[in-house]
Amino acid sequence: MKRWIAGVALAVGIGGGAVWAQNGAGPVSYEQAALLASACFNCHGPEGVSPGQIPSITGFSADQLIALLNAFKADEIAGTTVMGRIARGYDDAEIAAIAAYLAGDLD
Ligand code: HEC
Repeated sequence: MKRWIAGVALAVGIGGGAVWAQNGAGPVSYEQAALLASACFNCHGPEGVSPGQIPSITGFSADQLIALLNAFKADEIAGTTVMGRIARGYDDAEIAAIAAYLAGDLD
């Protein structure tokens, strides 16, 4: 847990105020995107690099991640255990911010 908090602090710290505007929903800051994405790292590993059986979420484009998360939301992916419920917890702006962060588009 301590390491996880340090990771979040680091991710937020290096953001330095970069702002990424999202269609109509108001600007989502790098810090907000990093914080949202950090919730994924509990399962998917630090910065999305999984140490275990859960798939890594690196190497996707933002568009691919948005499509995947919306598909989870809509129960379109067979055999899903938790991602449907998790994806339903985020609105479009949050999903776009998480996807952009994970794809490295905000770096
Ligand atoms: C409670 C653990 C948990 C959390 C938190 C979590 N995931 Fe997942 N994720 C999984 C599991 C398990 C799978 C495999 C599909 C399933 O069983 O639901 C998965 C699958 C995925 C996939 C598909 C990967 C592939 O290669 O097909 C993506 C993309 C993904 N998660 C993104 C996210 C994002 C983005 C977040 C944060 C908003 C997140 N996950 C949070 C457990 C989690």
